[in-house]
Amino acid sequence: MKKHFSIAIDGPGGAGKSTLAKAVAKKLNILHVDTGAIYRTIGYAAFSRGLDAKDESQIAPLLKEIQIDMAFDENSGQKMLLDGKDVSTEIRLPEISMYASNVSALPCVRAYLLEMQRDIARKRSVIMDGRDIGTVVLPDADLKIYLTASAEERARRRCLELSERGTPKAYEEVLREINERDYQDMHRDIAPLREAADAVRLDTSKLSFEESEQALLSLIQEKLK
Ligand code: DC
Repeated sequence: MKKHFSIAIDGPGGAGKSTLAKAVAKKLNILHVDTGAIYRTIGYAAFSRGLDAKDESQIAPLLKEIQIDMAFDENSGQKMLLDGKDVSTEIRLPEISMYASNVSALPCVRAYLLEMQRDIARKRSVIMDGRDIGTVVLPDADLKIYLTASAEERARRRCLELSERGTPKAYEEVLREINERDYQDMHRDIAPLREAADAVRLDTSKLSFEESEQALLSLIQEKLK
């Protein structure tokens, strides 16, 4: 396998990008970077200060005030630190998803994060997941995957996850939220979610986690051998 390489995984929310990328990174002994978590951290900072996440005049000064760091632990994976405090759990609250999507559409936020993400991939072999990794952040990635699943299947999986956590939510509401965020992430002006021309499309709607993981590993091994 190549010594230094990068794998870009893009796709809509809830398609399983991060869970799969994390598992595959462990098997390949490379770094997994969940870029959505960085946008979530900014979204969370806006939420906790009561800011309007769509207003650049409020979010641009926020970026100058806060310190965002990532810590990578072999066992627990990526941790997000906001001003030195571990916010990895808080950023997963359902209300933060739309905050993250809102701040991610702002030019100041995208400019702020671009170099941070590229810098990580320059230093180490990575599997990086997000919305614009293959199209903008790492256009020269060795392998680009567009990981997707139908909105209905993503909503079904999300409902199951919420029930298991003891915080069930109606399927219709979950599906509506998924469609709303997909639309917003795909229709913003800068770096919208789209499939890179040279990406391999992997639809996991009918695949189990193990089957998806195997498909992803096969694509990587084939491409990087
Ligand atoms: O992957 P996620 O659901 O945790 O991402 C949260 C939001 O962050 C998502 O709705 C859009 C934004 N995002 C982005 O714009 N670009 C990325 N590379 C990753 C996430």
